[in-house]
Amino acid sequence: MNGDTDFTGRKVLVVGGSSGIGNGIAHAFRQRGAAVHVWGTRASAEDYDPAEGSDLTGLGYTCVDVSDPDAIEAAPLPFADNSSGGLDVLVLSQGTVLYKRGEFAREGWDKVMAVNLDSLMNCARKFKPQLAATGGSLITVSSVAGFGANVGNPAYAASKAGAVSLTRTLGNAWAGEGIRVNGIAPGLVDTKLTKVTTQHPDRLAGSLARIPQGRLGTPEDMAGAVLFLASPLAAYVTGQTLIVDGGLTL
Ligand SMILES: NC(=O)c1ccc[n+]([C@@H]2O[C@H](COP(=O)([O-])OP(=O)(O)OC[C@H]3O[C@@H](n4cnc5c(N)ncnc54)[C@H](OP(=O)(O)O)[C@@H]3O)[C@@H](O)[C@H]2O)c1
Repeated sequence: MNGDTDFTGRKVLVVGGSSGIGNGIAHAFRQRGAAVHVWGTRASAEDYDPAEGSDLTGLGYTCVDVSDPDAIEAAPLPFADNSSGGLDVLVLSQGTVLYKRGEFAREGWDKVMAVNLDSLMNCARKFKPQLAATGGSLITVSSVAGFGANVGNPAYAASKAGAVSLTRTLGNAWAGEGIRVNGIAPGLVDTKLTKVTTQHPDRLAGSLARIPQGRLGTPEDMAGAVLFLASPLAAYVTGQTLIVDGGLTL
């Protein structure tokens, strides 16, 4: 295995690693030797189905509703029993979206902002000491929606723009403590979040026509960029959000 992307002995937590993009990222680290733990919303790992894009084989699991800051604070530290408590990589891939103009209503706005933006800061704050202990790396998952208007989803777009901004500021603020903070902004990836597009033939065709590379992204495509950002290859990169969209935003 190439040394730069060999994560043997590294400890990785993927919040939102129970499905979709985060699940792909979790397995990419696991396949490269890391011990990987994920957080999700269901009571136990057995409640997830690989057929739905949620393969928890070989991953540790804790149920934490990240829309609740107290739940984040109270959550047990993964790897606490088998290590000195350090964390090498924290990936924040949690995310939600509401359709049918739900994000224009107060409750919908609050829910999406809580999961997509507030929880990033709450998780980052909680794990900062563990990341500082290893000289670790924090990686956010925002979206190309953070770089433009998203007419039906004001909270989704604003929260993702906020995630890009937070990535920049934490990258700056924590560089002196040896923590690198970067992010990826995915384009369109087939997950349960995007079924409203991918399972609708006309919408899917319209989306594909706007992607210069002519295909949807995969969780593996997203994982490639995350592995790079977490690896020594990106040792001098911080505060950046890498757009991974097959050219969609070009
Ligand atoms: N798919 C795309 O095209 C696309 C494009 C741009 C950005 N993104 C971003 O990529 C990230 C992953 O999304 P995805 O597409 O992979 O969708 P997904 O399959 O629905 O994954 C979302 C993840 O977030 C977790 N989550 C949601 N609400 C949570 C809560 N309150 N507490 C704890 N965990 C919560 C989910 O847990 P459960 O598994 O328990 O539901 C799941 O692990 C999100 O930030 C999303 O905005 C996706």
